[in-house]
Amino acid sequence: MTTRQDCQALDRADPLAALRDAFDLPDGVIYLDGNSLGVLPKAAPARLASVIRDEWGTDLIRSWNSAGWIDLPQRIGNKIARLVGAGENELIVGDSTSVNLYKVLSAAATLVRADASSSRRVILSERSNFPTDLYIADSVAKAHGLELRLIEADEIEAHLDERLAILMLTHVNYRSGRVLDMAALTRKAHAAGALAVWDLCHSAGALPVALTSSDADFAVGCGYKYLNGGPGAPAFAWAHPRHTARMDREQLRQPLSGWLGHAAPFQFTPDYRPAAGIRRFACGTPPVLSMAALECGVDVFEQAEAFGGMAALREKSLALTSLFIELVEQRCAGLGLELATPRDTTVRGSQVSFARAEGGYAVMQALIARGLIGDFRAGDAGAPVASPDLLRFGFTPLYTRYVDVWDAVEHLHAVLARGEWREARFAARAAVT
Ligand SMILES: Cc1ncc(COP(=O)(O)O)c(C=O)c1O
Repeated sequence: MTTRQDCQALDRADPLAALRDAFDLPDGVIYLDGNSLGVLPKAAPARLASVIRDEWGTDLIRSWNSAGWIDLPQRIGNKIARLVGAGENELIVGDSTSVNLYKVLSAAATLVRADASSSRRVILSERSNFPTDLYIADSVAKAHGLELRLIEADEIEAHLDERLAILMLTHVNYRSGRVLDMAALTRKAHAAGALAVWDLCHSAGALPVALTSSDADFAVGCGYKYLNGGPGAPAFAWAHPRHTARMDREQLRQPLSGWLGHAAPFQFTPDYRPAAGIRRFACGTPPVLSMAALECGVDVFEQAEAFGGMAALREKSLALTSLFIELVEQRCAGLGLELATPRDTTVRGSQVSFARAEGGYAVMQALIARGLIGDFRAGDAGAPVASPDLLRFGFTPLYTRYVDVWDAVEHLHAVLARGEWREARFAARAAVT
């Protein structure tokens, strides 16, 4: 049986332990929700204060050049590219994940439809994909005369046929934490003559991603989860260089042709001419304050390089999630939790979800009242394959300790065994959870 002392020993031996000091974690809180909103990097308040006081306050508009504001989308993009296996100047930061998905999916649809012989009509995705992805895909489908088809993860391969235009998947499922095989599914989508678009919201900064070597076509991801870029942090878009090169050659556009995606924005011409490469996926003026905060989060990964980088982070993430599963199944056996995340570490992201048939929302509220922050995701009993209510726990190896895992399980045990969750104050739902 693992003890709390064992967990403390694991923390003492953890080669990544020093990185926790790069974050400002509130006292008395065990934060297992970095898969929703990452914590505050200690560097961010001073950086933002300086951007506000010195760059905005003093240098004013000169800061677009003197402080490099205009370069932020590409500069931070290059730092994120290293975390997701992409090349220099292939990834750009800006807008939200939803907006970037609209841009890249539309570009993919344009490329597929530009092939005159194409009778491909289907955008294929998982029914349990994050809803914004499905809403956006539906909009793109309607705009391009395509059809959105939704299936379960295990059915994907059976649907890779001559009707498929785009396979649009989220690498790590936001509910189950299951990882899809990006390289294999991309290869099969290509063999079927389609393109593969990947959402990396739950992968970027959480596990090694290999966009180029997986031969993916397009990708998007957010900045506010494992990259710790702050609430509403800008997202990113990546396109394989073969597609940006073709778009350059054929003067193809993504649909949100804003001025900063123009080849020469400061010539202020009335006609649109897309910038070369990934810059054509930029749209309007970058949100400088949010970009500065995001860069503070992303820069912690440069510090992590000295301790083994993404490979070491992945190893710790799996050790944390495995420990959590082991302890919950020991301590909370018979208390109404069922593992909803793969046991197989090769297909487990950096979160653990437990299905809960009764009072899941109240259980999470009771945990939060004790200082353990995770989150609750409602199921859908009416779906073709019914999905359960989930208690979700995210593990960010940059700042989560083994002892936090131990203490979290003790809170969970107390809430369930003592029936704390039944207290009336935990029942009412807030608008944002
Ligand atoms: C897989 C996935 N895609 C997209 C989003 C959100 O998109 P946006 O950044 O546009 O709000 C989330 C948010 O949790 C997500 O989990």
